[in-house]
Amino acid sequence: MSGDIQVIDHIWNEHTSVVVAARDGILFIPYIGPSLCDEEEFEDFRIDAALLSRGIVGGGLDLEVTPAVLPLPSQGWTGTPGLEIMREGKLLPLDLRLKETSWEREIDETCCTLHDAAHNISVEVLLSLKESNVFTIDISVQNKSDSSIVINAAHINIPVGDQAVEVLTLGGRHAMEAVQQRTPWERARISIENRTGRTSHEQLGVVFTGTSGFSEQQGEVWGIHLAWSGNFRMMCDGVTETRKTVQLGELLQPNEVVLQSGETYVAPRAIISYSSNGLSACSQNFHEYIRSTQPYIQRPVILNTWEAVYFNHDLATLTSLATAAAEVGIERFVLDDGWFTGRRNDTAGLGDWDVDVSVWPDGLGPIISHVRSLEMDFGLWFEPEMVNPNSDLYRKNPEWALDGTLTHPILGRNQLVLDLSRSDVRDYLFQKIDALLSSYEIAYVKWDHNRPLIGGASHQQTMGFYALLDRLTAQHPNVQFESCASGGGRIDAGVAQRVNRFWASDSIDALDRLEIQKGLSTFMPMEMLGSHIGSPTCHTTGRKHALSFRATTALFGWLGVEWNLLTLSDKEKGGLRSAIEFYKSQRDFLHSAQFVRVDHPDSSIDIRGVYSGGQGLFAVTRLHSGPSNHSAPLRFPMFKDAGELFVHVVPLGTPRWALHRKLPQWISNQSEIMSGSMLANIGLPMPSLMPESSFLIQFDDVVH
Ligand code: GLA
Repeated sequence: MSGDIQVIDHIWNEHTSVVVAARDGILFIPYIGPSLCDEEEFEDFRIDAALLSRGIVGGGLDLEVTPAVLPLPSQGWTGTPGLEIMREGKLLPLDLRLKETSWEREIDETCCTLHDAAHNISVEVLLSLKESNVFTIDISVQNKSDSSIVINAAHINIPVGDQAVEVLTLGGRHAMEAVQQRTPWERARISIENRTGRTSHEQLGVVFTGTSGFSEQQGEVWGIHLAWSGNFRMMCDGVTETRKTVQLGELLQPNEVVLQSGETYVAPRAIISYSSNGLSACSQNFHEYIRSTQPYIQRPVILNTWEAVYFNHDLATLTSLATAAAEVGIERFVLDDGWFTGRRNDTAGLGDWDVDVSVWPDGLGPIISHVRSLEMDFGLWFEPEMVNPNSDLYRKNPEWALDGTLTHPILGRNQLVLDLSRSDVRDYLFQKIDALLSSYEIAYVKWDHNRPLIGGASHQQTMGFYALLDRLTAQHPNVQFESCASGGGRIDAGVAQRVNRFWASDSIDALDRLEIQKGLSTFMPMEMLGSHIGSPTCHTTGRKHALSFRATTALFGWLGVEWNLLTLSDKEKGGLRSAIEFYKSQRDFLHSAQFVRVDHPDSSIDIRGVYSGGQGLFAVTRLHSGPSNHSAPLRFPMFKDAGELFVHVVPLGTPRWALHRKLPQWISNQSEIMSGSMLANIGLPMPSLMPESSFLIQFDDVVH
C-alpha cells in the first residue's frame, strides 16, 4: 500500500544486524544495532515492518517522513538535503526512488539503484557488512542526462539509535591532536566542517555517539567515519523528525565537481561500527577493518633524524648516528627534511627534489651504503605537494602553485601548495620521486604536508594526491609510505589504504602522546601510529620524562626513536636497547592482538593494552597525582573466561613506585597465577605510582 514501509533486506552477522527498508521507494536504514537473531534463525527470520513505521503526527506533512540514505526536500525531509545537484545554475528538485535491488548473500552486500526519472540521475548505493563487523555505505552518482550537472553535496545519512544522547569527537591542534571532546546531544545539530584541505589537526572525520555516559566497556556506541583526506562535513542531527541521524560526506565548493553526460561521482566511503559493549569494542571493529585492507607487514624500529639533527645534515654526523642506531637495535634509518637542493632551513627548496650537492657532494649513496652495511634499511622524507617561492621549481613554473593564483597568496611555513589537479604537476613529481626511488635503495617514504590548503579545490587536490601516491606505489610496490601532515594532520581510512604508517603527532611528550594515541586509537589500529621514544626533555613541550615512561608509551604503536643517540650515556643506551629488544620480542603479538582501553574509576589512571585469548600486555599509567593512596583495583574484563593466567610486571626500566613501605603482594612475589574471572571481577590491587610514570603487566596462559 502506498505509504507503507517495506523491508528490503536484513544484513546480518552474529554481532550486528542492519535493516534496509523503503517507503514508497525512498531508501532508508531504520536499524543498525545488535543482531536480531542467531544463525539458525536467520533464514526464516522476518523483520516486522509494522515496527518501523512511526505514523504521522499533527503540525507537519501528510506523509511519514523517513530519514533516507540520501534525504531530499521533495520527499518531505526538512533537514539538510543529502544530495544537491545543479543544472544550468538551478537547483534540481530531485526525487530519487528505488529502481532495483540486488544481493550478494555470501558477502553480506546489498546494492540498490535509485533513480530520478525527471532529471535522469541515478545513484548506486552499496551496503556492506564486513567480516570485521563494520558496516560500509558507498554511493556513486551518475549523470544519465545529456547535459552537465554540478554536484554541491552528496552526503550519506545514517540513523543511529535514538537512545544515543552523547557525541564524542576528536580534534585539537598541531602537536596536540585527537583530543576527545564530549557533547550532550539532545534536540540539537552538532556540525563538524573541515575546510583545511587535509584531514586536519582541528577535527578528525569521525564521531562516536552513544547512550548516556558510555565508557570504554559500557554502553551502546555507534562510530561513524568518512574515509577521506580532504574537506568534509559531518553533522549529528537530533532535530529533523525527532530522529538521531549522522550525515557525512565531502564538503564541496561550487563547481568543484561537474559531471558531464555519462560521468560518475564516487563519494568517499562511510564506515560505521556498532558496539553494545562500549567504545573500545567499537574501536576494535574499525581496527580489524583497516587491518583487513592491507597485508600484514613486520614493522621495523625506526630512527628518524629530525629531532636529532634538524636541518644540519652532514655525512660524518649522520654516519655516526646510523652506527649508534644499529648498536641499540634500530632497523630503519630515516633521513628527514634537509637533504634536497637549497633546503638549509624551512624558507627554501621545496619542489627541487634533487639531492643537495653542497651538503651531499657524493649524493645519498655513502649514507645509504653505510646504513645497509649495518643491516638497516633506509627511508627518506618528501613533501611533494608543496613548493617554496624560493625554489627553482617556483621560479620556472609559478603558475603551478595553487595559492599563487590568489590575489593575496598566503604562505604557510613559507610555502605554497602545488596544483595537483594538473597532470603536468603530477608527472613532474612522479618523475622526481620515482628517479630517487629507482636509483637508491629506499625502503620507505615519509610523505609530509605541512600547511593547510585555502581557497577551495580540495576535491581535485585530494584526488590528485591519491592518484600520485597510487602511481608511485604501483611502480614501487615494496616501498612503504608514511602519511604525515605536521604530525597528525592527515589520518583517515582513505589514506590508510595507501600507506602503512601515520606520524601521529609532532609532540613526542609521553604524557601528551597518551592522550593523542588514546584519541587516534578509537578508530586507527595502534600499529599504524608512528610512536617514537624522544629525548629526555621533550622538544615541543619542554617536559622531562624518564625513559621507562617514554618507552612504555611508544611501545604500543609502531616503535621508533627520535633522539640524538650521539649524546646518550651508557645507561641510557642500555635502557633503550632493552626497550627495543622487548618491542621486537612482542611485535607480532602487539600488532595482531586486540587493542583495548580499559575503564577505571580514577581518572588519573590510564590502562590500555593488547590481548588475545589468555595472553595480554598492558600499560598502567598514573597521569597525575590521584586523590587516594589505594586506588581502585585494575580490572581486566577481557579475561573473564580465560582460565588461569600467569601475571607479572615487566621490568622495562624501574617502575617509579611512590611512597611504598610494602608493594602489593602480586608485584613483590614477581609472578602469580590468577584466575581470569578474578582478574575481571576483583582485579589487581593498584600500587602507588608516581605521576607521569607507568608500568607494564604481562599475562600468559598457564599451560597445563
Ligand atoms: C613536519 C613533520 C616533522 C618533520 C618536519 C620536517 O613538522 O611532522 O616530523 O618531518 O616536518 O620539516
